[in-house]
Amino acid sequence: MKKTIAEEAVNRFIKDGMVVGLGTGSTSYFAIMKIGELVSSGYDLTCVATSIQSEKLAKSCGITVMDLDQVGSIDVTIDGADEVDPQMQLIKGLGGALLREKIVAAATIKEVIVVDGNKIVDKLGTTCPLPVEVLPFGHEHTSHALKKLGCEPVLRMAGEVPFITDSGNCIYDCKFEGIDRPYYLEMAINNTTGVVENGLFLNTAYEVLVCDKHGKISAMSEAVNEKLAGKEIRVF
Ligand code: A5P
Repeated sequence: MKKTIAEEAVNRFIKDGMVVGLGTGSTSYFAIMKIGELVSSGYDLTCVATSIQSEKLAKSCGITVMDLDQVGSIDVTIDGADEVDPQMQLIKGLGGALLREKIVAAATIKEVIVVDGNKIVDKLGTTCPLPVEVLPFGHEHTSHALKKLGCEPVLRMAGEVPFITDSGNCIYDCKFEGIDRPYYLEMAINNTTGVVENGLFLNTAYEVLVCDKHGKISAMSEAVNEKLAGKEIRVF
């Protein structure tokens, strides 16, 4: 499912001459491999990676990787997600790259999300925790403040030591019993001293491509646009 949907996204959205954002995770892996094939076949692509891991993979495939500040905007980024709700709102960051993923997404014109059907949920925060990246300094104090927002924050570990992100921070995986008001929560988390960024990606996805277990591919934007038809803004 991951390979099918990643390759579909590359075929649909990546054109010769583009600046492309490379996501992180096991689904993005297949997108990067496919982009590597395009480069080998003669496509002139400039890419920006959302993690050191993806940068290394891309370079090993012969892809030119530049710093974000060396490019203007990014035409298309293809990235995975951990949960997707029916409005194409996302939780990301179980792979630990949420901060760079969010910065790259903010610089991207078309953020294309690729997931298997297991990632689709009615409400965010029901099948996975919300990753929150925090500064290492005083991180336990920060976690106490996060707890007051109604979650159970668990420090992510890498064996015996805390997991450290590419930007040198820690991650707390915050278990909510479903997130009722994602916009309010995002604001509240980002207003918490010590927090660097959180894994809610709201109004970020231009398209979400989903592959079900039978290999059937669907694009979520059609359904979302139908629901929104006639409304000038989204009602949160
Ligand atoms: C990385 O930090 C994450 O946001 C990933 O994009 C997300 O965890 C999806 O990963 P998989 O494609 O491996 O499920």
